[in-house]
Amino acid sequence: MKIVITGGEGQLAADLVQSLARHDVVALGRDRLDITNPDAIESMCARERPDVIVNTAAFHQVDLCEDQPEQSFLVNAAAPQRLARACARYGATLVHFSTDYVFDGAKSSPYREADTINPLSVYGSSKAAGEMAIRGTTERHLIVRTTGVFGVAGVSSRHGNFVETMLRLAARGDSMFVVADQTLTPTYAGDLAECVRALLEAEVKGTVHVTGGGQCSWYEFAADIVRLAGSSTPVTPVMQRDRPMPARRPAYSVLAHDTLHRVGIAEPRHWREALHEYLTRRAGPYASQ
Ligand SMILES: NC(=O)c1ccc[n+]([C@@H]2O[C@H](COP(=O)([O-])OP(=O)(O)OC[C@H]3O[C@@H](n4cnc5c(N)ncnc54)[C@H](OP(=O)(O)O)[C@@H]3O)[C@@H](O)[C@H]2O)c1
Repeated sequence: MKIVITGGEGQLAADLVQSLARHDVVALGRDRLDITNPDAIESMCARERPDVIVNTAAFHQVDLCEDQPEQSFLVNAAAPQRLARACARYGATLVHFSTDYVFDGAKSSPYREADTINPLSVYGSSKAAGEMAIRGTTERHLIVRTTGVFGVAGVSSRHGNFVETMLRLAARGDSMFVVADQTLTPTYAGDLAECVRALLEAEVKGTVHVTGGGQCSWYEFAADIVRLAGSSTPVTPVMQRDRPMPARRPAYSVLAHDTLHRVGIAEPRHWREALHEYLTRRAGPYASQ
């Protein structure tokens, strides 16, 4: 398969390039394909003739999105719809990534693919709009909702990830205050990429939840990162109401893996096991970057 990956400089794109290496893969960073530029999408399709476009490009700085709703909807909804239209014209499949932030967090059991969405933030609303636009444009889509992504390329990519932020704070010995009343499942980008490869090769279509196994609060995640890094920097749990942020986040956003079970694709391992691998891998070639 000829596969074009957008957002090619990002952390998930890096692991997708590895997982999809048996195919003919081209990863394009924003400088080579800005997904908000319709002409750039058209000339990429005419040049590459992709069987699959994997869209990892997004505006996902959740608090910044509150101040920039137009840019959020442009990158996270209008541009994915253009990619979907291009896929329909060229007979290609669109793989797109969405988020647990399309849900409001009112549930206390894992969200299923068919559960009602009710985003609390501009980011969540723009991603929800992107999902709907894609579904309304082409049947040949795979929308993968995921949560709390950490990939080894985040060591050096522009937006990094939560693990790198915690390691940086721990190394500085700064006191760390992390929210304990938001529950999610951290997702290792390497495992997510492998799952996407399996879904793509099995020609699964529709909306699929793919996250790590287990669940935790951001506080528990941070405490584990700091402990495994061998740091003695204290991590203190705080409540969301004590650390108000511009964007509201769901209190509970664990995602159930119903579709993965139905199609017989193995779900990613427990987040804690994956965190071990992440920390081992980042101590390797990435350490010097
Ligand atoms: N990270 C998470 O915790 C998380 C959780 C749930 C869902 N997701 C979704 O997973 C996907 C991948 O996220 P990620 O963690 O790999 O993010 P990432 O590391 O920030 O990568 C996203 C890439 O998209 C690029 N980009 C932004 N606007 C673009 C545009 N207009 N045209 C082309 N490229 C553009 C960014 O480039 P710049 O550096 O130039 O901005 C960045 O390299 C996204 O759809 C995100 O919404 C992520």
